[in-house]
Amino acid sequence: MTDAEPTRAAPAATAPAATAPAATADGSFRIRLARSGGVLTVPPDLSILEVLRRHGLHVPSSCEAGICSSCQTGLLAGIADHRDYVLDADDQGSAIMVCVSRARSEELTLDV
Ligand code: FES
Repeated sequence: MTDAEPTRAAPAATAPAATAPAATADGSFRIRLARSGGVLTVPPDLSILEVLRRHGLHVPSSCEAGICSSCQTGLLAGIADHRDYVLDADDQGSAIMVCVSRARSEELTLDV
């Protein structure tokens, strides 16, 4: 054993999902649709999934409670407010469960 044992970096500071700040004062944020094109606003009273549905975009879903992974969607840019129970820290930078999660940045770019 040497003195040069690898050290682990401290985990990045992330706020718990339930207490993460909203992207804007009223809780709304934008989603940019990388494949479909366009930008939609997600108001505080609707999920990303519901906004996508209302614009005719189909994303598979089942539980709509953040536990089944059916609605997992690629996250290409932006900072998500992850409120699901399935994504681990390694996956949170590149995926989002659109049924429950929201944004900590003013805009998310989704692989939709
Ligand atoms: S529909 Fe189950 S996690 Fe989103």
